[in-house]
Order: sequence, then C-alpha cells, then structure tokens
Amino acid sequence: MRIDVVSIFPDYLAPLDLSLVGKARTGGLLDLRVHDLRDWTTDRHRTVDDTPFGGGAGMVMRPDVWGTALDSVLDDGAHLLVPTPSGAPLTQRTAERLAEEQHLVVACGRYEGIDARVAEHYRARPGVRVSEFSIGDYVLNGGEVAALVLVEAVARLLPGVVGNPESLVEESHGAAGLLEYPVYTKPPQWAGLDVPDVLLSGHHGRIARWRRDQALRRTAGRRPDLVAALDVAALDRADLAT
Ligand code: ADE
Repeated sequence: MRIDVVSIFPDYLAPLDLSLVGKARTGGLLDLRVHDLRDWTTDRHRTVDDTPFGGGAGMVMRPDVWGTALDSVLDDGAHLLVPTPSGAPLTQRTAERLAEEQHLVVACGRYEGIDARVAEHYRARPGVRVSEFSIGDYVLNGGEVAALVLVEAVARLLPGVVGNPESLVEESHGAAGLLEYPVYTKPPQWAGLDVPDVLLSGHHGRIARWRRDQALRRTAGRRPDLVAALDVAALDRADLAT
C-alpha cells in the first residue's frame, strides 16, 4: 500500500519511522511518503493561508496551493482523506476498508481548515474518492495527529505487519462489537491483587465464557452505545444472563 501525507509540519509525522509502522516501511509493506505543503507554494513567503471570506477569526488554507499539491500526489484510484473535526467518525470498520485500498492521500489542514472547494473539486474528479474523517469529538490544532492515528490503524491491518495475525482477532472494536476483556500476565499475585482463578484453571470453555462476560459488562458500563448497536441474533443465552 502507498500512503502520502501532506502537511505544513512534516516533522509531526516522524513517529511513523518507529515501531510496527516503521518496520512495515523498511520491510516494503508500506510505501509512506510525507510531503511539505509549502514545497508547492510559489511566493517568497511560502504562503499557505489567507483570511476567511465572510469574516471571522483565524485563517483558512488556500485552495490553489492544495490543488497544486494534490494534483501532483493523487493518481487514478487514490482515496483522498481529509482529517477534520466535522468529518465522519473514524472507526475500526473504516480502517478495515481502507486497508484494502492501494493508495491513500492524507491532506492535513491547520488553522480553521482547508477551503471547502478542495474537497468539492476532488469529489468531482473521476477515479478519486474523498472522505473527511474525525478521530473524535474534540478539536485538535491540525490534522497531523489524526493522520498518525489513521496510518497506524490502517497499517497494522496490512498483511504481514502484525507478527501474529491472531492478535488482531479478539480485540476491542472487533467483529463482536464489544470492548476487549481485561488481560493479565505473571506474577499471579501483585500488590495484593490476584489474577482471577478461572484464568489459571486451564479450562478453555470456562475461560472463554468468563472473557465474554467481562467484555459484555465492560461494554455495558463504558459504551452503552455499542451495546445498543449489538446484533441481538448474534448473542447466545449465556450472554443475555450476563
Ligand atoms: N483536526 C482537528 N481536530 C480534528 C479531529 N478531532 N479529528 C480529525 N481531524 C481534526
């Protein structure tokens, strides 16, 4: 997969050299390129923004600079992703769908955002898809942190990136629609706290039931919205007793 990220702060994306994403890059599983938007400016001051039409606080990023930048990185079949607090929520399902694609381009806005004509223009371009996405209901100073989140969420789903693919199976926001159960390791006693007996029992059926109960309880307590969205037909009788 290829991912291009365009930003006025390319150094913000430096963590993508680290850990699993860094390894995916050096191992050739992910072709990730970070670009400085200002490389596409033409004036002496390398201007990327201007005052908003209609008035108001802050600055808006100019469509002409973004247009030149995106024309040079977007090819046919690419998916343009624009982080913005007014976008559709980024979910595990979104990440799964994006992990199937060949080429993602992330356009990181700053200030009050990017002139709205940029998304409109590329939406009308055949062969290009455009999605505006949000990583949560809060406002960041720009799209870079959201781009980091997106790249990590997608890259870890690419075949070969996570060493043991089984670790992707039973995690929060997986197919079951539940948060993950609590996990424990050695030592069995720590700070006066014991690992739940059932996990030391070696009884796989009881362990699976306990984990599912914990996942259901946790989800009900922390994310009642996820419980409301569960497919009742996919629950069994023991689930309903939890
Ligand atoms: N840019 C600023 N805030 C954001 C958010 N919550 N999600 C995505 N991009 C953003």
